Amino acid sequence: MTEQERGGSTPAVAVLGGGVMGEALVAALLAGGWPADRVEVTEQSRQRGDELAQRHEVRTDGTNAEAAARADVVLLAVKPAVVPAVLDEVAAHLTAGALVVSVAAGVPIAAYEERLPAGTPVVRVMPNTPAVVGKGASAIAAGTHASDEHLALVERVLAATGLVVRVAEKDLDAVTAISGSGPAYAFYLIDAMAEAGVLLGLTRDLATRLAVATVEGAGALAAGGEHPAVLRERVSSPGGTTVAAVAELDAHAVRAGVVAAARAAYERSRELGRA
Ligand SMILES: NC(=O)c1ccc[n+]([C@@H]2O[C@H](COP(=O)([O-])OP(=O)(O)OC[C@H]3O[C@@H](n4cnc5c(N)ncnc54)[C@H](OP(=O)(O)O)[C@@H]3O)[C@@H](O)[C@H]2O)c1
Repeated sequence: MTEQERGGSTPAVAVLGGGVMGEALVAALLAGGWPADRVEVTEQSRQRGDELAQRHEVRTDGTNAEAAARADVVLLAVKPAVVPAVLDEVAAHLTAGALVVSVAAGVPIAAYEERLPAGTPVVRVMPNTPAVVGKGASAIAAGTHASDEHLALVERVLAATGLVVRVAEKDLDAVTAISGSGPAYAFYLIDAMAEAGVLLGLTRDLATRLAVATVEGAGALAAGGEHPAVLRERVSSPGGTTVAAVAELDAHAVRAGVVAAARAAYERSRELGRA
């Protein structure tokens, strides 16, 4: 019987796979006030397990089956190819009512539901790497047996990772194309801006710091809710420097390039989901 069934208020979470995303999720849970004794992580490598135990003071000595048997929420953070094997390990050990959550990219909810006991609630998450610094954007989609309460629980689990939105599973490929792969588009822009700074005579360090702070600041301004085109117009005075720069972005079809990039990510996500 889990602690929650005994009347405890904080659900026990088992994170299966303590890699980059698994550790980010553990850190976010703890940062959000989840008690460390309600979180455990499983890892294949003992060394990595010890490292995580030391850094976060969470239990890391269980097998996937043992951790699942102690958990109210079983959160898969292993690579997509390993998901079926891990599901087979835990299926017989889930407690009644346990919620299965997965961040594995491209694995459809149906693949979980067919390997887990009938009626198991499943929630699929598409997170992104800025979750590591609490600035992530995650979309969550409910499986056949996941209720509003289950989605609310996943929102609680992910609260300290950043923005969390609810979507239908069919929209996860589009989410992957925008926020899942999106950090790479922003890094690409930052890198290009820094390179331009170097070309114009700034040191690389200075150019990179300016580019990072500018993208971060623009993101913070845009988060205020005004339309990005309005914000762009506001910094484009007639005959000025910014409008000259934006005209070059248009001449080089940068907007069309971003749309084509996102479409390519979307198509690839669909392909991987069918594989
Ligand atoms: N990183 C991202 O930006 C991102 C974004 C969205 C979604 N995701 C999803 O997050 C998941 C994890 O990605 P990641 O980048 O965190 O990968 P990762 O760093 O390789 O983490 C996976 C971890 O799982 C461990 N593992 C492997 N087999 C296991 C098993 N049977 N039981 C328990 N642990 C096991 C691995 O250990 P070993 O190294 O010892 O094998 C590794 O530490 C993936 O499904 C990915 O699609 C990641």
